[in-house]
Amino acid sequence: MRKYPCKEPVVVTCGLPYASGPLHLGHLRTYVPADVFIRYLRKMGVSTTFICGSDTHGTPIMTAAEKAGVTPKELAMKYHQLYQEIFPKLGIFFDNYGSTDDPENHRRTTQIVTALQKNGYVYAKDLQTPYCDNEKRSLPDRYVRGTCPYCGKDARGDECDQGCGRYLEPGEILNPRCAICGSPTRPITRKHHYFRLTSFADFLQTYLEGLDGTKNARNYALGWLHEGLKDWCITRDIDWGVRYPGDEKLVLYVWVDAPIGYISSTEEWAKKIGKPDAWERFWKPGDGRIVHYIGQDITYHHCIFWPAMLKGSGYNLPDAVVASGMVTVAGNKLSKSRGYVIWIGEDYLDNNLDPDYMRYYMVSYSSQTKDLDFTWASFNEKVNTELVNTLGNFLYRALYFAKQNFNGVPQGKPVDAIQQRIQKTVEAVIDGINEYELKKVADEVMALAAFGNEYFQTNKPWELIKKDKVKCQEVVYNSLNLAKAIAVLIEPIMPSVAEKVWRQFAMSSDVHKVGLDETSKPLKEGSKLGEVSPVIVKIDEELLSRLSDVTSKRIQAALTADHAEPETKMISFEEFRKMDLRAGKIIECTRVPRTDKLLKLQVDIGTEVRTIVTGLGHLYPPEKLKGLTALFVVNLESKKIGGIESKGMILAIEKADQPDYWVPVTVEGVPPGSKAA
Ligand code: 2FM
Ligand code: ZN
Repeated sequence: MRKYPCKEPVVVTCGLPYASGPLHLGHLRTYVPADVFIRYLRKMGVSTTFICGSDTHGTPIMTAAEKAGVTPKELAMKYHQLYQEIFPKLGIFFDNYGSTDDPENHRRTTQIVTALQKNGYVYAKDLQTPYCDNEKRSLPDRYVRGTCPYCGKDARGDECDQGCGRYLEPGEILNPRCAICGSPTRPITRKHHYFRLTSFADFLQTYLEGLDGTKNARNYALGWLHEGLKDWCITRDIDWGVRYPGDEKLVLYVWVDAPIGYISSTEEWAKKIGKPDAWERFWKPGDGRIVHYIGQDITYHHCIFWPAMLKGSGYNLPDAVVASGMVTVAGNKLSKSRGYVIWIGEDYLDNNLDPDYMRYYMVSYSSQTKDLDFTWASFNEKVNTELVNTLGNFLYRALYFAKQNFNGVPQGKPVDAIQQRIQKTVEAVIDGINEYELKKVADEVMALAAFGNEYFQTNKPWELIKKDKVKCQEVVYNSLNLAKAIAVLIEPIMPSVAEKVWRQFAMSSDVHKVGLDETSKPLKEGSKLGEVSPVIVKIDEELLSRLSDVTSKRIQAALTADHAEPETKMISFEEFRKMDLRAGKIIECTRVPRTDKLLKLQVDIGTEVRTIVTGLGHLYPPEKLKGLTALFVVNLESKKIGGIESKGMILAIEKADQPDYWVPVTVEGVPPGSKAA
């Protein structure tokens, strides 16, 4: 059943970008489709509001700010401004673009968390989180790396970013190490605050079953729900963010105030249009619809945390979540730090590439939920072949012929078959919007252009003009009607191309404002045409090949860096001499219970007997080590290993069967160049 067009107003939001770096292609996978979607809704006569803003809090901003040597606020404001400038250059016009650091968002977040507290959905609990003695700071989220408890891959504190993609609760990561200096961490205990997510399991089951949008979002979320929920720690002991109401020393986890940014940005819009209550139609329980466009990687936050928070605090629930597939660059997972990235400013706009071409590429490349592998070659194919040959060719041919031969729109009658073909396309476009499948929409519009080309080609108006002027006029008149319909239909995807066509038709209306019904209104015979020129211009292939080189070099450099010899940091002779190396006799050796590798040694180092824990249990059975002499560092600071205080480290051991010389303990069978653990 079709949901759109609908009478109720719709607010469409886009995942708020972290204001931590320039915009790249990955961002456009969400913002372009959302902009296209909302433009089609407007064309269907739906009342819409388009909302976004910068996500300014949390460790993503803090770590980037530290790297740049500025404060988190300075960094966030710099990129916030940049985003505000760059979105319109891409034809993306939000009705409001806020920031999660705006006072409106601090206020709304405090109000929502206070409501959750009052409704009994928040409780305090002592939590152990990692602390780095070297950096002298606690390590929330991205400040810590370790092993994912679900898939075993290396992961960051709040998300398994290189493995299964799961959200990780504070304290969940295994073998935590400081992401700044690499040191192992120690746990510290502090009172934190938890949201009773587990109370929402039944609600979420029913809610998700009825959630509209793309299937991937709903199905992933139902899967997670099935695996079981955990209560959610919503505080962090850092000082950048929205203060936790009740303990000013803590801030809220960024994923609390970020989605609330959707509400506060809508509030800002309402004030801006002079109707301060207008936001309530969407967010307070009522008939307004909420549609979230997001990247697939943040589905958990939008389909689990967010609806539970809204429900628990008495707000309206999202009607649809549209989760886009991710972007890869020439087969590589997009990574800013590794160079697998296409920058929208530097690589695209600064080379005067037309934003409409990228918009078309983004929506027509693949289904919304599939991954998009960007290469300049596929971009070239999309623009210089598909767009130029089909869309550009038809629009130019029809308009140019009319201008040259009739100096305007000739006399003619709309042919039923053509009008029906247009209507069929409009219906298919509406279906595509209802399925949140813009590829289908783009393909339908292109198919109409292909139909136009065929109609023009088979009727040969250039021959008709010599032998049957009336027939020629009819063909040109109907070709122009097709061209006009195509301009209306392509406007949401390629707004400036549509504008150019509209100008060539010398229309007095605004192509961005006319509705889909405009497609079936035949042109006025005899009306004038403006200047006619091609609206799709081939991109210089040399430029594309240069850009392709830049991208390959970046990727190559990243791959080389991955395989490069790690730089060895030299230590001075003085530093080396600080090590107190001694022979020690292992007088006792036992396994540490519940571990695979750990052995507890009692070592006679001449002056005393020391406890030293070593990880050699997989190489030596304990009875083989007992009685042997080994080389130890004895002035290493003591460390708890497997719960036992270890005071030293074994370096080398006499070979069990040849007791007269030393061999390093960990090198047997190890490839040259392997680093000691
Ligand atoms: O993943 C991200 O880039 C987040 N900044 C998205 C936030 S979306 C919303 F919840 F604010
Ligand atoms: Zn994982």
